[in-house]
Amino acid sequence: MVAVSASAPGKIILFGEHAVVYGQPAIAAPLTAVQVTVTAEPGPPGGGLVIHAAALGQTVAAAQVAPDSPLFNALVYPAQLLLEHLRAPMPDLRLTVRSTIPVASGLGSGAALATAIMRALAAALGARLPDDALNPLVYEAEKRHHGTPSGIDNTVIVYARPVYFVRGTAPQTFAVARPFTLFVADSGQSSPTRLTVADVRRLHDADPPRLDALFARIGEIARAARQSIETGDLDSLGPLMNENHALLRELTVSSELLDRLCQVAREAGARGAKLSGGGRGGTIIALVDEADAAPVTAALRQAGAVRVLSTHIEQSP
Ligand code: PMV
Repeated sequence: MVAVSASAPGKIILFGEHAVVYGQPAIAAPLTAVQVTVTAEPGPPGGGLVIHAAALGQTVAAAQVAPDSPLFNALVYPAQLLLEHLRAPMPDLRLTVRSTIPVASGLGSGAALATAIMRALAAALGARLPDDALNPLVYEAEKRHHGTPSGIDNTVIVYARPVYFVRGTAPQTFAVARPFTLFVADSGQSSPTRLTVADVRRLHDADPPRLDALFARIGEIARAARQSIETGDLDSLGPLMNENHALLRELTVSSELLDRLCQVAREAGARGAKLSGGGRGGTIIALVDEADAAPVTAALRQAGAVRVLSTHIEQSP
C-alpha cells in the first residue's frame, strides 16, 4: 500500500445557528480556505493504529488513549466508528493529521477532522465510503463533542457545498443567482459550542415561549435569506445578517469582541455582519463588496481579529 490522503474543508453558518437545534432552518457553506488533511501510511505489523497530530506535536497509539480524553473524542473515536461501520479490525496504519482550521472557533474543526480521518482510513483499507454513508458517521462523532448537534456541521462539510438545513430532514441545495463574498474574521477567542448550546437550552427551559419566539424569527430570517440568495437580492441579505446577529445577542451567545467586529465591519462598508457558529468567541462573517474589501479587512484587524479569510459563494451553473 502506498500513502493515501483525504481532506475536508471548514464551514461557516450563514444564518440560523442555535435555532437550528430547535427545528428551524439554517444555511451553511463550506470554507475551503481552511482544511484538515489526513495521510494514511502502512505501519509496522502488529503496531496497530498510530495517529500523529502534527499541530499538537503528539503521536498516540489509538488503543492506548483514555476514552474520556479530548484526544480520544477528536482522533480515535472517528476511526473506531469507521472501523465498526466497515466491520474491519484495527489496522496497522499511521495517520498524520494536519489542520489549518482553528479549534473551537465555529469553523467546524471537529466535523472536518472526523470526515478526513474516516475518508483516509477507508481509502487505506480500499473500502468505498459514499458521502451518504459517511455523513451519519460524522454526525455520531459530533455527538461526542456536544450532546445535541443539529447535524448541520457534518452535512455541509461532508457534501462540501452550500446547504439549507432542517434538522431531521435531507439537506437541500439551492440556487445562487448572484455570486457574493463573505469575510470571515476570527476573534481568536476559543469557545466550545457545547457550552453555548447548553446555556441556550437553560434559557429555553426557563422561558420556552420567549425563546421559541426568538427561534421562530431566526427561522423566518433563514427562509428570507434563502429567497434573497436564490433571486440575487444582495441588498436584503446584509440587513438579514444584522437582524440575525441581534437575535443571537438576545440568546446571550455574542460577546463584546464579536459585537465590535460586526460593528466595525459595517462601518467600513460591509452590507451586513453577524457572528457565525456557536458564539461567545470564534468568528464573525460579513457580506462585503469587492470595493470595500481592503477597508473592511483593515478595520477588522484593527479591532482585534487575529485572522481574516474570505470565501466566495459561486453562482449556480
Ligand atoms: O460548531 P459551531 O460552533 O460552528 O456551531 C454549531 C451551530 C449550532 O447551531 C450552535 C449548534 C448545532 O449543533 O447546530
